[in-house]
Amino acid sequence: MKQITITTTFSVYDSLEELNKEDKKIMLQAIEARKKAYAPYSKFSVGTAVLLDNNEVILGANQENAAYPSGLCAERVAIFYAGANYPNAKVLKLFISASPQDRELEDPIPPCGSCRQSIAEYEMKQDVEIEIYFMGSKGKVYHSNSLKNLLPFLFEKKHL
Ligand code: THU
Repeated sequence: MKQITITTTFSVYDSLEELNKEDKKIMLQAIEARKKAYAPYSKFSVGTAVLLDNNEVILGANQENAAYPSGLCAERVAIFYAGANYPNAKVLKLFISASPQDRELEDPIPPCGSCRQSIAEYEMKQDVEIEIYFMGSKGKVYHSNSLKNLLPFLFEKKHL
């Protein structure tokens, strides 16, 4: 038996004010997109902004359903829209802001496991890493150079 160690690296910014001008602008769009969440059940709003290599910014917000599993996370709303409408564009960066509707949240909120798997599909397909930025409603912003830092043991088409 031997052990393997996998390390992942994130950058931590004290606030979005530390981001460069362009990235801050897109994170502000993700924050704004939170207002379009349809989340009457969890009352937890998530906004996502996806930057494509054609300079389009695609926005998404979580969409819930009375049949709970039929709802969809903000990240997948945005990235599936990008895939459906710009199938040849590459996803360069994905920004996430999340918080309960009745209070601010300082904890950076990472994408859930299903969203990681979905984002990974696009990273593999385009063979260009997707940068991920995530935060609560204020406070620290975490940044990863690639989705792989969030999902090291990735299931992908080569395994099929
Ligand atoms: N949610 C997202 O939109 N993205 C995530 O990565 C985690 C969770 C949504 C789903 C649901 O509408 C609410 O947050 C509470 O789980």
